[in-house]
Amino acid sequence: MPVIVAACFRTAAPEWRFALARMRPPNRDMPLIDLHCHILPGVDDGALDLRDSIGMARQAAVDGIEAVCATPHIRHDHDVRIHEIAGRVKALNDRLRHEEVPVTVLQGGEVAETVVEDLSDAELERVALGAGRWVLMEPAPGPLGESLEQRVEHLVARGHRALIAHPERHISADMFERLARLVAAGAMVQATADFFLRQRFAAGMLSLAKAGLVHVLSSDAHSSHGGRPVHLSAALRKLREVDVLTPHLKWIEETAPRAIVRGEDIEAPFAPGV
Ligand SMILES: [Fe+2]
Repeated sequence: MPVIVAACFRTAAPEWRFALARMRPPNRDMPLIDLHCHILPGVDDGALDLRDSIGMARQAAVDGIEAVCATPHIRHDHDVRIHEIAGRVKALNDRLRHEEVPVTVLQGGEVAETVVEDLSDAELERVALGAGRWVLMEPAPGPLGESLEQRVEHLVARGHRALIAHPERHISADMFERLARLVAAGAMVQATADFFLRQRFAAGMLSLAKAGLVHVLSSDAHSSHGGRPVHLSAALRKLREVDVLTPHLKWIEETAPRAIVRGEDIEAPFAPGV
């Protein structure tokens, strides 16, 4: 086991060690991992209650998703208490086992870029995805700014890596160049799966992927009742239309998400082509 992974296993809370250990080797029937999902009940603008959370986990299971990172908003306008996340994740996992839903929820958070530098090292570990290295970072509204690039670099200096959430919400004329700079600074990019399936957005999303600026897909689902579902598979199939990604589909679908929740220091096998 690489040193960094071993370190993550050592520092992870016991329930995460158990969950991460369960994920080796990959379950070939359910290989997918959703890295961005507001599945915790009643903490942010995601699942309303436990029933809603269980409904979201059932959606995930139907789509072949074996693990879902709980990523409540870590942002000034949401009262999410970081020290409570692990307990809430454990309670949801206990309920999913009781309901025989074959999905494991992992720790995480969607950390606003305006908040990330205020977090202590311990808090960063608690909101990072799975084993505590990769931080899902929500850019500030509007075009991706230079401040985000600096925050990505600061995270790297603190021993973390950044996964940039939903770039499709931050369109600007030079968006591709801005994203490429973030990748050069040490980030990877998480696009929202559902947007690949919407007629209005699909072409733009495929352009982003064609430019080598999509590393993983996630649901960013907020409810089982409406909005984006906890589905990844159909959007991943859309990526097969992108010729330059053909050799990398397995990496995007399985290798990268799995490495991220294990806290591995991975690099993409393709570079931004902008
Ligand atoms: Fe989100």
